[in-house]
Amino acid sequence: MSVIRIEDIAYVRFRAPNLREMQAFLEQFGLEAAQVDDARLFMRGHGGAPFLHATDHGEAGFAAIGFRAESLADLHALAAAEGLAVEPFDAPGGGSVVRLTDPDGHQVEVVAGQTLTEPTIFDARQPWNSVESRARLRAVKRTGQGPAHVARLGHAVLGVSDFRASEAWYKARFGFITSDEIAAAPQFSIGAFLRCDRGETPTDHHTLFLLQAPTGPGFNHAAFEVRDLDDLMAGHDHLKAGVRTPAWGVGRHILGSQVFDYWRDPWGHILEHWTDGDLLTAAEGSNTATLQDLLGVQWGPPSPPDFG
Ligand SMILES: [Fe+2]
Repeated sequence: MSVIRIEDIAYVRFRAPNLREMQAFLEQFGLEAAQVDDARLFMRGHGGAPFLHATDHGEAGFAAIGFRAESLADLHALAAAEGLAVEPFDAPGGGSVVRLTDPDGHQVEVVAGQTLTEPTIFDARQPWNSVESRARLRAVKRTGQGPAHVARLGHAVLGVSDFRASEAWYKARFGFITSDEIAAAPQFSIGAFLRCDRGETPTDHHTLFLLQAPTGPGFNHAAFEVRDLDDLMAGHDHLKAGVRTPAWGVGRHILGSQVFDYWRDPWGHILEHWTDGDLLTAAEGSNTATLQDLLGVQWGPPSPPDFG
């Protein structure tokens, strides 16, 4: 039994010395400004969350991962179990926050009570015609050009110094279920894709991936869900035209099955566009996979050696 079960990832937070430069990149990436001043930048997507990406003015780096609790009552239960305070959340959408520190010193924020807005994504999309399903009849497809349409944040990946210690810490508090554990050798696992325990409600194959990497603890990447494959590819062309730095893609992962496209922000933090990922319930259980499964692709280029 965990202290609470988190509902989803809510946002990632960074520091950067130039908020305008961060904003310009994120707008090309497919986010919109929700609130900006000299000290803080909040960017939102089209899915109704008040923000998905935050930047504090300062020396460049990763600052925090934010999860959303199912209720304010859960937030209070978490705070009581940790001996921490529930604080008002000074950010777009308001609400309340509890701030924790994980075994590697990563700041973990859990929020509840944020005011959501109406999703602004999306005109009625024209469905795809496949051989099995002729779903678009008597209508042309025009996908448009420009930035991808980010709907939501889907997951984040953290490098950790001791996978088992971090796994125990996150599972005990937030109720994560392992989807795929990565066994580098028999009896030696170096990480796991963790999904939220939403019971019978389907949820992403992973919301958090913990990886005991040779590079040590730290931020690896954060991944934003875009509308569909056309949107991801249009977004790819737009970032390419903006002379942004690609990191890996376009391809389809094995574990989680997403179509992925990774880019670097102006300070090197990797952000991912993804679409068409696996959705699992609690009943799907857990699997063990290999490093080849982790790094391999179903199609697309192999993972570059400098990824992460
Ligand atoms: Fe990812």
